[in-house]
Amino acid sequence: MKIAITGKGGVGKTFIAGALACSLHKKGFNVLAIDADPNANLAYTLGLDETKANQIIPISDNAELIKEKTGADPDSYGAVFRLSFTVDDIVERYAVETPLGVNLLVMGVVRKASAGCMCPANYLLRMLLRHILVRRDEAVVADMEAGTEHLGRGTAEHVDAMLIVVEPSVKAFETANRIKKLAAQMNIKNVLLVGNKIMNNKDKNAVQITAKKLETPLLGLIHFDPAIREADLSGVSPLLSSPRTEAVQEAAALCNRLLEVDTEADSGGF
Ligand SMILES: Nc1ncnc2c1ncn2[C@@H]1O[C@H](COP(=O)(O)OP(=O)(O)OP(=O)(O)O)[C@@H](O)[C@H]1O
Ligand SMILES: [Mg+2]
Repeated sequence: MKIAITGKGGVGKTFIAGALACSLHKKGFNVLAIDADPNANLAYTLGLDETKANQIIPISDNAELIKEKTGADPDSYGAVFRLSFTVDDIVERYAVETPLGVNLLVMGVVRKASAGCMCPANYLLRMLLRHILVRRDEAVVADMEAGTEHLGRGTAEHVDAMLIVVEPSVKAFETANRIKKLAAQMNIKNVLLVGNKIMNNKDKNAVQITAKKLETPLLGLIHFDPAIREADLSGVSPLLSSPRTEAVQEAAALCNRLLEVDTEADSGGF
């Protein structure tokens, strides 16, 4: 099961990625969570404390590793670099075990004029993500921000499900529309909508209407839950401090439905 979580900034991607990763782990899967957000904070949601979280160097910023693999300095845009190297040691070397039992790999993103181009760091990230999605056999949950930057052709089709998270807002719906179009171009199999921070029936209806307009199945709805906010403000993971609260339970329920989708897809039924 390889799941990518996308959506507009602030809609709840990291919370949902963490909750899903944790639910998959509880079901007995080996789970690798990937943080591919420039503002990486999945570590906190997975229960790492500040000291440990701050010690993690995103792969995108790991100049030593980029040089070791590609033979080039990360900032040497335009330089010649190796295109052929192994990436199968990187998860074992750099993934961190979290208190919730999920392994976490902080990939980061390359945000420069060269983003999307073949600079050494970007090339390494793409190779690594491709390896993780295609070759590794644990369950993968990737917190991917709005972009699908690392998902080139030959990689995107190995994502079993892409969840587009929306909160009830026009901007979140517009971003979802853009992501949906990109996902279609990239041949991503199951693109599913998740409504988060739902406060009332009006919110629920707005998300349901968006799902219809985008022709995207609605995987589930998660209520606005003050316990999630409070955990955030206190700097603790809601998955550790409030595991039984409504939104955590609803996010866990997404996991069951996703596994059904996966089984149906395997039997050609989805
Ligand atoms: N169901 C919910 N109920 C209440 N608060 C929520 C809920 N889901 C997320 N939040 C809060 O909303 C904020 C944004 O959540 P989160 O960081 O998961 O979003 P994100 O999409 O990953 O954001 P970013 O784009 O900045 O990475 C956080 O303060 C989080 O605690
Ligand atoms: Mg986030």
